[in-house]
Amino acid sequence: MSNNLILDVRDIKVHFGGVKAVDGATMSVERGSVTSVIGPNGAGKTTLFNLISGAIASDSGTVAFNGEEIQNLHPHQIAHRGMIRTFQGAKVIKRLSVVENVMLGGQKNPGERLSGFFNPRARSRYESESRERAMSLLKQVGIDRFAEDYAGILSGGQRKLLDLARSLMAQPTMLLLDEPFAGVNPTLVEKLLEVLNSLRQAHQLSFLLVEHDLETVMNISDRVVVMAEGKVIADGLPNSIYDNELVIDAYLGTRKKKS
Ligand SMILES: Nc1ncnc2c1ncn2[C@@H]1O[C@H](COP(=O)(O)OP(=O)(O)OP(=O)(O)O)[C@@H](O)[C@H]1O
Ligand SMILES: [Mg+2]
Repeated sequence: MSNNLILDVRDIKVHFGGVKAVDGATMSVERGSVTSVIGPNGAGKTTLFNLISGAIASDSGTVAFNGEEIQNLHPHQIAHRGMIRTFQGAKVIKRLSVVENVMLGGQKNPGERLSGFFNPRARSRYESESRERAMSLLKQVGIDRFAEDYAGILSGGQRKLLDLARSLMAQPTMLLLDEPFAGVNPTLVEKLLEVLNSLRQAHQLSFLLVEHDLETVMNISDRVVVMAEGKVIADGLPNSIYDNELVIDAYLGTRKKKS
């Protein structure tokens, strides 16, 4: 595997009953890049994310993350290696404050270990550090003014920003975002794009996105992977997918070819 690839997925497959949800997908993500997966409903995009992040087990194929095969690891083991994913339809705990929701994304909480339980000083130090970091992340994504409010008051778009901040608490090297812009108003999409770009530069983060909105995909992606019926039917620079007949047939439908 090239050292330049943070993620390398080879011929991965899974079926649910008679449905070949992912049917031999091969794709990769370069370190520090934004790669987007597009494709019609039911193409297998979310299932591919589930396979990569360990949420479901594959029938066959390999997933290498930083050169290490991870297809047999559990989600928490994969998260621990620096790959964090978000879910389609961001969930927040409405009865916790915004900053507390972000803090839930932290790993290595000493309060969860016995030693931490018996060491309240370590626990409270951890908690204040964790709160500080959560606040700084909320500032980075631009919703720090809501820090002490119940998360329930946030709009759909603001919840996505909260979800992003929570993912960053674990200090990932790679983020998998499933439809981060869905239902977000255009102003917040701009904000999210800005945030993703600055994160990429500041932390050398790599991104794998599922996204339906082609404008946004073209805007943000270094590479685009097109799926249909469980297979990768095209893979390349954003502009190249417009010229691919397979993609036009399977996904773009009646959309006219760019001249
Ligand atoms: N847990 C499951 N059990 C049975 N079938 C499933 C399951 N998860 C996904 N599928 C099926 O696998 C196929 C791929 O679904 P998937 O959710 O991965 O598509 P998607 O590309 O994410 O679609 P969307 O754009 O609507 O989010 C679909 O036919 C779906 O019905
Ligand atoms: Mg999906």
